Amino acid sequence: MKKQYVSNLKVGTNVNSLFVVSHKSIKKKKNNDDYCAVTLQDKEGSIEGVIWTEVFKNVEYFEEGDFVLVKGNVSEYRGGKQLSVSFITKIKNKEDIEYSDFIRTTKENVDGMMSEIKSYINSIKDQHLRKLLDLFFKDEDFTRRFCRATAAVRYHHAYSGGLLEHTLSVTKICDFLSRTYKNLNRDLIISGAILHDIGKIREYDVGVIIKVTDEGKLLGHITIGYGLVLEKIKKISGFPTDLRERLLHIILSHHGHKEFGSPRRPKILEAFVVYHVDHMDADIGGYNIILEESNEGEDWSAYAKNFERSVMLKKPELENSDQKSTGTDEEEKFGEKGLGVDIKTNDDRNERNLTEDANKDEKTKQDATKQDELF
Ligand SMILES: [Fe+2]
Ligand SMILES: [Fe+2]
Repeated sequence: MKKQYVSNLKVGTNVNSLFVVSHKSIKKKKNNDDYCAVTLQDKEGSIEGVIWTEVFKNVEYFEEGDFVLVKGNVSEYRGGKQLSVSFITKIKNKEDIEYSDFIRTTKENVDGMMSEIKSYINSIKDQHLRKLLDLFFKDEDFTRRFCRATAAVRYHHAYSGGLLEHTLSVTKICDFLSRTYKNLNRDLIISGAILHDIGKIREYDVGVIIKVTDEGKLLGHITIGYGLVLEKIKKISGFPTDLRERLLHIILSHHGHKEFGSPRRPKILEAFVVYHVDHMDADIGGYNIILEESNEGEDWSAYAKNFERSVMLKKPELENSDQKSTGTDEEEKFGEKGLGVDIKTNDDRNERNLTEDANKDEKTKQDATKQDELF
């Protein structure tokens, strides 16, 4: 039984526990001595570790995916936590290892999330789209794989059940938006939301550590998803050409930009919406992972590669933190002032987004490989 989990490790904690090595790289100091940087993982999260030269010289060979017994101490490093390893040894006898202690898994209820997805499918009125989704989600083998899948290796929803969690959030928000913007086709946007990342079931291999499969490296989830959906569409007689093209377009364009791996930019309203919602949910998932892995009580995160900045973790200090609205009873009742404030805020946000997007376009062209993993 594992004694300590990543979530219990704070600055100053003495560590003596089992982990799985999810990343290992050998680095050089200025004087050319080798040292080793490792990422150690369990079901609660991961922590960066360093094995300095003197310890590393005597360490028996281990590799990514190995279970290791680690002793050391947690210190603060660039606003984050770092485990200085004083002892590390590979566990050879895996019989006593409880694998579920090491596999990162969604904290949400998987069966509950899947039945929500199924009720969205049942709410689709178009018979062709409904049949298409049923071909996937009434297949037990597919459903089991979908429930186990991750949405990424790192950065957002990077755990078993992460794809389901992300897909459900995107679908919920798209459903809400389809009621707000009447010219969105609800059936099409719900179908696109549920299927947008379906290729991830084959892009990633979710074992104790998450790996990108050969197929994932060669094709990527957008291409895999396009293939999976087209294959099923071909089994449905009379599937309308226009509907097929629109649905496949949502999948192909959901990363928004060619630099992010989309061969087409969004050209129909439903595709614009899926792209923005997907991006937003990935950002929120990414922020949540940073929050989980940061030191408790820390106001700011360490530099986060996915956001290319450090983010604020401190909660807003409100006078009545349990009171969500600052409006008076009357304003809350009639909503007029509240509505005005919301509209202004949204306008401000849109303006800011346009500027940020323009800057981002420039920046992202330089960093396409990393971005490919972000959504
Ligand atoms: Fe996505
Ligand atoms: Fe994606």
